[in-house]
Amino acid sequence: MKSKGKAGSLKSPTPPLQGLSDYAREARKGAVAPFSHFKVGAALLTVDGEIITGSNIESATYGLTLCAERIAVFKAVSEGFRKFSAVAVVADSIKVTTPCGSCRQVLWELCGDIWVHIANLRGQKRTMRLSSLLPEPFDKRFL
Ligand code: THU
Repeated sequence: MKSKGKAGSLKSPTPPLQGLSDYAREARKGAVAPFSHFKVGAALLTVDGEIITGSNIESATYGLTLCAERIAVFKAVSEGFRKFSAVAVVADSIKVTTPCGSCRQVLWELCGDIWVHIANLRGQKRTMRLSSLLPEPFDKRFL
């Protein structure tokens, strides 16, 4: 699928963001997860309605693995996008998967307090602000 596209009616920064989750679900198919077999897709929404997707890519070293969320945000920022309103994350988990700590930090620094819309393949979903997942964050304001 295209790595970015117009979100159309998804321009609203407020939940629900079902359409964005559909992009994350599709992006999940691009995951390279031969070690965990846990495929994750992410879709990042810019304030202008662009969508940039990512999927997790694993390394045989394990430690060099990158999550879907960080792939999406690094792709987006490297392509020049700077202002974001939401990210959707989809995985095939029993409970909906929340972003890991590293992704929370990177998303905070590059996207700010965006909406985080998480869903699994069973139709369960939750939406929250990134600040609720990363209270009292460290960022450039302290430097
Ligand atoms: N993973 C993600 O891509 N995003 C998350 O929010 C949680 C974890 C990936 C990393 C690794 O490839 C696999 O899921 C298992 O941890």
